[in-house]
Amino acid sequence: MAIVTTKDMFAKAYNGGYAIGAFNVNNMEIIQGITEAAIELKAPLILQVSKGARNYAKHVYLMKLIEAAVQDAEQTAGFDLPICVHLDHGDSFELCKSCIDGGFTSVMIDKSGESFEDNIKITKQVVEYAHDHGVVVEAELGTLAGVEDEVKVKAEDSSYTRPEDVQEFVERTGCDSLAIAIGTSHGAYKFTAAQCTRDANGKLVPPPLRFDILEEVSKRLPGFPIVLHGSSSVPQEFVDKINKFGGKMPDAVGIPEEQLRKAASMAVCKINIDSDLRLALTACIREHFAEHPDHFDPRQYLKPGREAIKAMVEHKLVNVLGCDGKA
Ligand code: 13P
Repeated sequence: MAIVTTKDMFAKAYNGGYAIGAFNVNNMEIIQGITEAAIELKAPLILQVSKGARNYAKHVYLMKLIEAAVQDAEQTAGFDLPICVHLDHGDSFELCKSCIDGGFTSVMIDKSGESFEDNIKITKQVVEYAHDHGVVVEAELGTLAGVEDEVKVKAEDSSYTRPEDVQEFVERTGCDSLAIAIGTSHGAYKFTAAQCTRDANGKLVPPPLRFDILEEVSKRLPGFPIVLHGSSSVPQEFVDKINKFGGKMPDAVGIPEEQLRKAASMAVCKINIDSDLRLALTACIREHFAEHPDHFDPRQYLKPGREAIKAMVEHKLVNVLGCDGKA
């Protein structure tokens, strides 16, 4: 089994009322932290690679590290860990083709910033090539705010998905899953303080997700897997730690976990998480150096960083995604 597409994973998740975690990977420790959590909890997994991650670490390194994780699961746990290797936010046919040719089992083509017709045209081209090679395709309708792989989309340029467009888009492109915009946002600063209210303790409370749009989309696409990007919850314990140990992240705010859980119990089959991995690693390393200013061996701070990622992912698999025990 090992490296698989999302076809089976999504069918089971849709019917079971849970979602698969799609975690962004950039290096060995991140891959190990995530996969060790998934092995321990027997959870299916999507590891996703952005264009930026591919530029940073090179396609071949990330692919080999993921293959190593699968082999390690087999050898140390006697367990066939189903992993889908996915391109996050592919911006061209050529990039998608290169990932398909290089062994990815899923790609995203994101032309949500183009006109409806251009989005359909390029998505369809990617779908044809991908399906010929046994690979599945995620597309996007609607535009999320926030920082997406170093590119910033301003809140005023974001737009919710129009439910009346989704059926035609899916029929004409043949895509296998659809990312929609219902109020999530990329990065660790998902909302400005002005967009939020404050609770009794002065903590920022973000505006609720547009579940009415999700419901309307799923009515029009029964049984079809929906994807949520920008779904980190930005745990305040990490933000507080970063700020305590020399960092500067005022008013970082994410999507409340209970809202993500609700989306996972509906038509959402894939929930994307990147920022929370970065926060867990950064908080841990900042704390480590504050307590051990003499350390200079990367293993001394990357090992606890990897453990912090593992603990964070375990928490999400159980409490947010509900996919523990589903592999
Ligand atoms: P976060 O920034 O909320 O982790 O979202 C990541 C994402 O959607 C990657 O595509």
